[in-house]
Amino acid sequence: MVHDYHARQYTTMYESTRGLLDFMEECAGEMGERRIADVACGGGANLVHMLERWPQCQITGYDLDEKLLDYARAHLPEDLAARCRHERMDFYDLPERVDANTCAVTTFIQTMMRFSADETDAVLRSLMHISSEWLFFNALVSDHQMDVVMDLWDYVKGAPDRICIFDADHFRERCLGLGVKEVMYKPFEIGIDLDPPPGGGAGTWTQRTDEGRRLQFSGAVPLPWHFCALRLS
Ligand SMILES: C[S@@+](CC[C@H](N)C(=O)[O-])C[C@H]1O[C@@H](n2cnc3c(N)ncnc32)[C@H](O)[C@@H]1O
Repeated sequence: MVHDYHARQYTTMYESTRGLLDFMEECAGEMGERRIADVACGGGANLVHMLERWPQCQITGYDLDEKLLDYARAHLPEDLAARCRHERMDFYDLPERVDANTCAVTTFIQTMMRFSADETDAVLRSLMHISSEWLFFNALVSDHQMDVVMDLWDYVKGAPDRICIFDADHFRERCLGLGVKEVMYKPFEIGIDLDPPPGGGAGTWTQRTDEGRRLQFSGAVPLPWHFCALRLS
C-alpha cells in the first residue's frame, strides 16, 4: 500500500537516507559503475536519490508489493529509466531466483528493524547471496548486551507494529558467523527537532539532552538508529 511515507520522500530526501548514502561512500568510496540492489525498495524514492547521486550506477529495486512497484515505476524520471528497473520479489526468494553476486552493493533501508535478531539470519543470507562487496542498512542498535523485540499496538492507526533493537556485539558475531568480513556501525543523530505526532501513535519525535544531543523516539519507543555496513569481500 502506498503511504504518505513513500510519497514524501520524493520531494524531500529523509535525513536518514542522506546519512546512509554518505555512510556508503565513507565505507565503499566512489560508487563509480557499481551495480546496486535496493531490496524492499518501497515506493522507489531512494532509487531515484541514488541514481541522481551516482550517475554511472545501475540500480534494481525489489519489493513484494506490486502497488508500491507500480508507484515507483510511475515516479521514475524518464532520464533515469535506462539505469533502473523494478522487480517484484520476496527477498527470501532471492537465492533461488537471482544469480549470486549480481550486484556489488545492496541496500535494505528502513526495514531491518522489523526483524528480531534470530530472524535476521535468513534475511542476511538472502541479501548476501546477491551482493559481492557491501550490504548497507539502517537498524536499531545498542550496546546494552540485550536484544529487544517490541510488539506494538498503535491506537491511532488501529494497527499492530513491531520494533526490534539488536545488541551491537552479538549482531556483529552473528554476521561474522554468516561469512561477513567486517561489520561497521555509525550512530545516526538527526539534525532537526521534531514534535510528537499531534494525535499520538507512531511517528518520529526528538528530545534534546542537556548536552544538546537529540534522542529519537517513535511514540513511546526509543530509537537508537545506526547505519550498518557489512563488508562481504
Ligand atoms: C518500511 S518499508 C521501507 C521501504 C523503503 N526501503 C523506504 O525506505 O522507503 C518496508 C518495505 O519492505 C517491503 N517488504 C516487506 N516484506 C518483504 C519481503 N518479504 N520481500 C520483499 N519486500 C518486502 C514492503 O513491501 C515495504 O515496501
